[in-house]
Amino acid sequence: MNHHSPKDEFNDGENVNFSDNAHMDDLLAARLSRRLALQGGIGVTTGLLLGGSAMAAQGQASGAARAKKAALKLGFGSVAKHRDDKVSLPAGYQMSILHALGDPLHWGDESWKGDGSESADSYNRRIGDGHDGMYFFGLGEAGKFDARRSDRGLLCVNHEYVVAPYALHPNGKTGGAARVASEVEKEIYAHGVSVVEVKRDAKGAGMGMVRGSRFNRRITSATPIAFAGPVKGSELVQTRFSPDGMKTRGTNNNCANGYTPWGTYLTCEENYTNVISRAAGDDAKRSAKEIAGLKRYGMTDGRKSPYLWDSAGSDDLFARWNSAVTGASAGDDYRNIFNTFGWVVEIDPFHPDSTPVKRSTLGRFNHEGAWPVPAVKGQPVVIYSGDDSRNEYIYKYVSKALWDEADVNGGLAAGAKYLDEGTLYVARFNADGSGEWLELAHGKNGLDASNKLYALADQADVLIHARLAADSLGATKMDRPEWGAVNPLNHEVYMTLTNNSNRVAHDATPTGVQLKPDAANPRYYSDSFNADGKTKVNKGNPNGHIIRWKEAGAQAATRFSWDIYLFGAEDDAAADVNLSGLTAVNDFSSPDGLYFDPRGLLWIQTDDNAYTDETNCMMLAAVPGKVGDGGKAVAAGGTETRVGAKATPDSVRRFLVGPKDCEITGIAITPDGRTMFCNIQHPGEESKLDALSSHWPDSQTNPGSTKRPRSATMVITRTDGGPIGL
Ligand code: FEO
Ligand code: CA
Ligand code: CA
Ligand code: CA
Repeated sequence: MNHHSPKDEFNDGENVNFSDNAHMDDLLAARLSRRLALQGGIGVTTGLLLGGSAMAAQGQASGAARAKKAALKLGFGSVAKHRDDKVSLPAGYQMSILHALGDPLHWGDESWKGDGSESADSYNRRIGDGHDGMYFFGLGEAGKFDARRSDRGLLCVNHEYVVAPYALHPNGKTGGAARVASEVEKEIYAHGVSVVEVKRDAKGAGMGMVRGSRFNRRITSATPIAFAGPVKGSELVQTRFSPDGMKTRGTNNNCANGYTPWGTYLTCEENYTNVISRAAGDDAKRSAKEIAGLKRYGMTDGRKSPYLWDSAGSDDLFARWNSAVTGASAGDDYRNIFNTFGWVVEIDPFHPDSTPVKRSTLGRFNHEGAWPVPAVKGQPVVIYSGDDSRNEYIYKYVSKALWDEADVNGGLAAGAKYLDEGTLYVARFNADGSGEWLELAHGKNGLDASNKLYALADQADVLIHARLAADSLGATKMDRPEWGAVNPLNHEVYMTLTNNSNRVAHDATPTGVQLKPDAANPRYYSDSFNADGKTKVNKGNPNGHIIRWKEAGAQAATRFSWDIYLFGAEDDAAADVNLSGLTAVNDFSSPDGLYFDPRGLLWIQTDDNAYTDETNCMMLAAVPGKVGDGGKAVAAGGTETRVGAKATPDSVRRFLVGPKDCEITGIAITPDGRTMFCNIQHPGEESKLDALSSHWPDSQTNPGSTKRPRSATMVITRTDGGPIGL
């Protein structure tokens, strides 16, 4: 996501982790205790400690079956970096627009005019703004989920946020202390999720939206949503809308996504603090415990949200975005609205009348997405998740129920079976290349009312305040976890750590919320803009990296080994910055979107501002190796780490470069690999309405365009209809 301007994006993410776990001293202590453990001859990471060749030998046995398959090979020419206002693709590829902001889903609404004249209400039936995570579900003849179907499907797309200054309103966003009600109403309906039916063209692998399909649907920031799991009915989610805490309204700031093996969509609530305010003086009406919880999630006394939805009037549609105490009890006001966001929401796209469900077992934080491991019969359902703020954590959910294929097409009832009872863990990455999953269960590991950091009353409290529970277990603070992806060929897990300005040199003294580098977040350096040769602007880890791990045995294991698959860097950066050896065909900065397609190709999307003096954001394709295929390295700033094999033009290659001031985010590929969906979010984000920096998508075919830019989903195919990327 990039709600703020790209200039601020490097500093994006509420930075509220004041806990003091995982400092350098602790990492050194951990290394020492690890050594002691090794003297006993144990340890799942022995292979890593022996070095890459030992790991490779170990991997060969389990990989024998896979070796029989033809090796994946990238089959396109690398796309050059550029700063033009268009999407560029490799030779032999083409694109069309599936849908863009404001396109009507049904018959009866006019086409998008591009002048902001559409009514607020019509956005209940139009494509929302800020296209982000998405998933393609094959649609079978009986209107059911068919995972093998490529020619017809339901495409679920997140609409993360509105680019109000230039796209939605007639004259841009009206300023002032109080927002205009009709503008806020339109913004509320332009957030959320769209579900549309898509169908392949008569010829080739292109696809179009089926306007008027009975499956087409919008879910917005005002749609009723049920709570499930331990938080359902908790006093911490009681509101005037739902005094018994059984439901809430709206899903918001839906960033990345997930999907389930039974055929439902998971949408994840990230920067919800952008729309929630808290009137000044509210601390005086709150307990010390409540204040601690609010503070840890960035909701300080007197905080005004950037969108100021609460300022648009006393109507409940607007007033509910003020989280201050105004009534006699929680059932009389919206003091708890803040606790009703930050969840993973399950949507059944095959049943348009179904009520979406907030699955509380996956915890509450700035959820980037929810990435499932391919389901294995008789094994738990496992879902990984990250908290996208600086110095936040990586999580893992393991279901209690074991996977049974009979539950395919089980809808939200299957969701209840697998997602309402299970265990949430948070990750600790040890300095020696091992890692542990720490259980976030009330009554275990000191997570109870006697906890000194925050008195945890019950499991609902643990899940609502997952960050505080994770703090007290000593989880590892990461460089802003964005997307994850699970390799379908070996079930290793990858996650982007997009960047972090709050790392300091490893011999420096951190102040405030700064952290020293650690082995899993090892780099500290400055990044200068080559174009002007001026002062170095970005310090810390400006270009980000992609970490990966391999569970020790079954996917539900509580130990793992890790390394850093790729470090983002400019091709001309110093060797201890460009640790993966990127060159002109594959250098990138600030990885964000990440997706393994069904064939095992890895797609990497960027949301960057550190390299944007030379190139717009981009997408790369990769044939990854595996954990432990590299070795040890010392990163810029002096911290030792574990890095995967160096990138080559054959292993990582640039596939696409986007238009001006955009982010590439959201990707899905049909099961046959011939149709790709890819999103362009907020083209021209730097713009004012009277000085637009982008006119995309119109500029794609009309270089002299003066139209407003808008977020959109592209359909990308090969001109010969062949498999993409290979
Ligand atoms: Fe919405 Fe973390 O990007
Ligand atoms: Ca993102
Ligand atoms: Ca981002
Ligand atoms: Ca440069």
